[in-house]
Amino acid sequence: MTFNDELKASVKKVLVSEKEIKKSIKALAKKMTKDLEGEDLVVVGLLTGCIPFLPDLLKELKLKLLVNYVQASSYEGTASTGKVKVIGELKESIEGKHVILVDDIIDTGLTLKELSKYLYDKGAKKVTTCVLASKVGTRKVAFEADYVCFEVPNEYVFGYGLDYNGYYRNLPYIAALKDELYK
Ligand code: IMP
Ligand code: MG
Repeated sequence: MTFNDELKASVKKVLVSEKEIKKSIKALAKKMTKDLEGEDLVVVGLLTGCIPFLPDLLKELKLKLLVNYVQASSYEGTASTGKVKVIGELKESIEGKHVILVDDIIDTGLTLKELSKYLYDKGAKKVTTCVLASKVGTRKVAFEADYVCFEVPNEYVFGYGLDYNGYYRNLPYIAALKDELYK
């Protein structure tokens, strides 16, 4: 099967187009630039889902900032394991700094909640969270992201950093996965 055949067999519907994503990232960055000017900023990207969202966002932020990454894992396949593990260490100190934590999506809320706690434990003065997508009606913990590009329905979505079994992060749009592949 070619890439396009496999893709066709997986996509139920394109939810957000490349054009819409670009436009929304620009608008979000503008708001963040206005809100966060003057802060001592460190952007912490959650690998691997923050790519390509984070690089695109960074180019639009007119702010002085450092960039760091951490890796966290909570998913195996298409269902949350309910446990969040931080893999690896921050390369620079975030002591007293304002951290912007960036991920692809907020679903149960566990990852951002746990990672925020992790960053506060490392001495962050403030942790602000930012995601490309926010799934509606799926929180298991009381936590919302501060900056959100899109709301998506309670379906398995992939593309633009969001993976389906590790693949398709490189799609330039966000799509919903066919129901029969995960329900
Ligand atoms: P949470 O901890 O349940 O909020 O989930 C956050 C993490 O789960 C994200 O960083 C994603 O990696 C992953 N995730 C949640 N929903 C989806 C989805 O629909 N598609 C792909 N990954 C997802
Ligand atoms: Mg993730």
